[in-house]
Amino acid sequence: MARLPILVAPDPRLKARADAVDTVDAEIRQLMDDMLETMYDARGIGLAATQVGVRKRVIVVDIAGKDEDPNPIRMANPEIVYASEDETTYEEGCLSLPEQYADVKRPETVRVRYLDHENEIRELTADGMLAICVQHEMDHLDGVLFVDHLSGLKRNMILRKLQKARKGQPATV
Ligand code: NI
Repeated sequence: MARLPILVAPDPRLKARADAVDTVDAEIRQLMDDMLETMYDARGIGLAATQVGVRKRVIVVDIAGKDEDPNPIRMANPEIVYASEDETTYEEGCLSLPEQYADVKRPETVRVRYLDHENEIRELTADGMLAICVQHEMDHLDGVLFVDHLSGLKRNMILRKLQKARKGQPATV
């Protein structure tokens, strides 16, 4: 497994739309495992291939708490087949928007169809934090960041803060 560099906004690659995966083969499985390692290392609960500069519809998620066993979920071509009318608001953050947080409203429950790491079609019904996390990661595959759900004013404030923070730091490789 290998750790991959995580892109930080406003990197234009974060705005790209990812392509569907044909088959979950050894190469995609490796990508999923590398993304999980990268996510755990960064203490994230979800990561999309877009965030590591790979334009493929692949996401990984693990919302297990510190004292729980890891529960990694690997998804290729995730697709929402049901979303509840009820919405919920969570304070979201993102590894591509370091140290920025904001309340985002999303459907409370979603049912997602996807290909797992063995290329099997599966469905997952998620609510609570898992539902939020899956929707957040799926957004990345369409070039959407959580700040895109905010008003222009709030979004610009966060992006400006990030740009400022970036200037004060040596380039990370
Ligand atoms: Ni994110």
